[in-house]
Amino acid sequence: MNPIPIIVDCDPGIDDTIALLAAFVSPELNILGITPVCGNQPLERTVRNALQVCELGGRTDIPVYAGCFRPMLREPIHGQFHGSTGLGHTTLPEPKKTVETMSAVDFLLEAFGAAAEKGERITLCCLGPLTNVAVALRMKPQLVDGIERIVMMGGAYREPGNRTMTSEFNVLADPHAAHVVFSSGVPIVALALDATHQVMLRPEHVAEFFRVSGRISETLAALMAFWDRNDVRRYGSRGGPLHDPLVIAYLLAPDLFQTEKAHIFVEYESELCMGQTIADWYGKSGQAPNADIVTKVDADGVIALFLERLGRYAEKAAA
Ligand code: BDR
Ligand code: CA
Repeated sequence: MNPIPIIVDCDPGIDDTIALLAAFVSPELNILGITPVCGNQPLERTVRNALQVCELGGRTDIPVYAGCFRPMLREPIHGQFHGSTGLGHTTLPEPKKTVETMSAVDFLLEAFGAAAEKGERITLCCLGPLTNVAVALRMKPQLVDGIERIVMMGGAYREPGNRTMTSEFNVLADPHAAHVVFSSGVPIVALALDATHQVMLRPEHVAEFFRVSGRISETLAALMAFWDRNDVRRYGSRGGPLHDPLVIAYLLAPDLFQTEKAHIFVEYESELCMGQTIADWYGKSGQAPNADIVTKVDADGVIALFLERLGRYAEKAAA
């Protein structure tokens, strides 16, 4: 089978990093580019982190394009669980490669435009605030013709928010961008907190990942250990939710996920509920569904998948 062409839009970030490392060793995926955005950290840092993760993963062949330095309208907010550099206490290798001169938005326009012209489509993996994608869609709505679908981490439906009472970080960080994306007509698979809170990376998993992952084991285990929220009251166990990597898991093993169709709305006016994502589960709005929302995840299956994938670094030599 031909590999799925993907672009990874992200804001690394600890869980973005785990997602990238898993994608790097998955031949089912052809990563055409990485487009960091302002999110967990300011843009300058998410770009640097993306370059460092490419270095660590031995994938300096993948181009990195810098995205938007702030959200469409609101002031930037940054992640609270990723440490001061965005990568916990780890020190990743200095990047030898540099960021491309083309901007992320221009790259998205070019890549999706070229795909559409050839009658092909690229899957867009969104692991951060949706600013880059929304700006590209605002510049050229025909972009949708080159997008197979967006598989995104963001939002909270039956779950409460993680950054505010109602809202998940990626959507809250740029609710206007999320509104543009959900209104675009692009098919969307939404992995929200409802899904990601089902897959907790517990201390015993961290020990397993350390055991199997060869040359990246120390860095990976340090990233994962930093991710532990230690909030049993909220999550029912120690550990941290495996948010962004689920996007990659969904592409590799969709059978591990169950979805329900619904129309998703984004609140971008009320300060109390800013960034809330609302799913019309029962057709109250009269709007056709615009997304497949993941409602159930086989958590053991996902952990096993990532153990197998990240275990590939035990064999893989640095590039
Ligand atoms: C999302 O917020 C970020 O901090 C994580 O990287 C993830 O993309 C979870 O709400
Ligand atoms: Ca992220």
